Amino acid sequence: MQGMDLKGLEKAVMKAAAAVSGADDVLIVSHIDADGISAAAIAATVCERLGKDYDVLFFNKMGEDAIDAVNNSSRSLVWISDLGSGYLSRLSRDGIVVTDHHVPDSSWRMGQTTLGEFNRIMHVNPHDHGYEGSSDISGAGVTYLVAKSIDPANTDLAYLAVVGACGDMQDSGNGLSGINRMILDDAVSNGSLEIKEDVRLYGRETRPLVGFLQYSSDPEVPGLSNDQEACNAFYSRLGIPLRKGGRNRCWTDLSENERAAAAEALLDLMKEKDRTRLVGETYVLTDFPKGTDRRDAKEFATLLNSCGRYNDAPTGMRICMGDEDAVEASKENRSAHKRNISGAIDLVKKNDLLKVRRFIQYFDAGSEIKDTVLGIVAGMLLNGDGAYRGLPIIAFADSDDGVKVSARAEKGMAERGLNLSEIMKKAASMVGGFGGGHNVAAGATIPGDKKEEFLEIVEDLVSAQVI
Ligand code: C5P
Ligand code: C5P
Ligand code: ZN
Repeated sequence: MQGMDLKGLEKAVMKAAAAVSGADDVLIVSHIDADGISAAAIAATVCERLGKDYDVLFFNKMGEDAIDAVNNSSRSLVWISDLGSGYLSRLSRDGIVVTDHHVPDSSWRMGQTTLGEFNRIMHVNPHDHGYEGSSDISGAGVTYLVAKSIDPANTDLAYLAVVGACGDMQDSGNGLSGINRMILDDAVSNGSLEIKEDVRLYGRETRPLVGFLQYSSDPEVPGLSNDQEACNAFYSRLGIPLRKGGRNRCWTDLSENERAAAAEALLDLMKEKDRTRLVGETYVLTDFPKGTDRRDAKEFATLLNSCGRYNDAPTGMRICMGDEDAVEASKENRSAHKRNISGAIDLVKKNDLLKVRRFIQYFDAGSEIKDTVLGIVAGMLLNGDGAYRGLPIIAFADSDDGVKVSARAEKGMAERGLNLSEIMKKAASMVGGFGGGHNVAAGATIPGDKKEEFLEIVEDLVSAQVI
């Protein structure tokens, strides 16, 4: 499709909004990650405000169990968010709304043009209207557009769509862009969000100053990352106290002067190419207290991942819907998630698991890394110093139904033609599995004995796509 067609997207949004408004009751089906949880919270809030009965189911992927849940639901409408577009031809019931941003199922699209207009599935997806689903809008964002169309009062949910977009890393580079920017404007207009130029390392609200630099990985700060002593010395050289009033200070506790001086000193340490990644837009969610992870959109997203990736997505959704008990219940999840991720990254590095081939790099974590966090680990290795930025990274981990594959690549590779979604879909189907996703981040499930064959196919496809 050529060019961006906002009108076309708005038309699809309005059709979906009418279907939701007219439904007797609703089953919401969503993805377990931060974006999927934010999307489900938006959809659930809409149903609540419309006074409709609803329930919510979360899935890791659109596998057979998810497809069955959709097709066999007794609810009058099934609203699928942050999932579904890749598997439209498998959805057979009437009354389905899909608000997603994954690369759509091409066989369904072909069916649609030959059969003409049909209303079985109200499909809202940026790819159908010339937008790029990996960067222009998230699943929560698409869901938000429908919410806003149902009732302009739902613009108070815009901040959740920003959290979803940050969870899918759509803010990497120079901050949110595309349709995300309009959603950001809604959140700024209603006073729930402030855009602040700041150091974009993770943990501005909750990590003590030393940990903030010591554990920085996206990007790494040369001389400081992984070196506690050097981080201590960094602050003491600038005369910045680590504690005040008997407690550790965080980055957002620093005065404007302290922050500016520290940012300046950090920039001096950065490699030229990483400077633009260090400082940029951050999104402050002003309704939440300072020093909590819900105040920073990125930290909020990590909090949601720490629930969803460990079979506890409903707690994440309750957090998004303002349930303070859920915030308390998630504390355990959060520290376990952080331990898991850093343990997984260490595992790959210390055991030299990463193998480099001509056009790809890969590692096989076996049963050592949980399949639901494999993609996060692969992405962090690629963004940090754990892998080569110029090659796509393919990761394997054992899962219940075969081998889970996660694939990640740098944005520049997509600009040169790489589309990991197509590659995962094609290579997986050639070895008896299934897959999909986005151009720079995709995944698959394949049979356990097909890893080598799969890698060879992926490597051929990568070399054919990238110029
Ligand atoms: O299923 P979903 O679209 O929510 O998952 C997107 C995944 O892709 C996330 O894990 C996110 O971290 C990753 N991603 C990425 N870089 C991008 C866009 C997405 O690593 N530019
Ligand atoms: O699981 P992971 O984070 O690696 O997934 C990356 C992207 O690929 C996500 O957007 C996910 O929804 C998608 N994916 C898919 N089909 C699969 C596995 C992942 O569409 N079988
Ligand atoms: Zn998403």
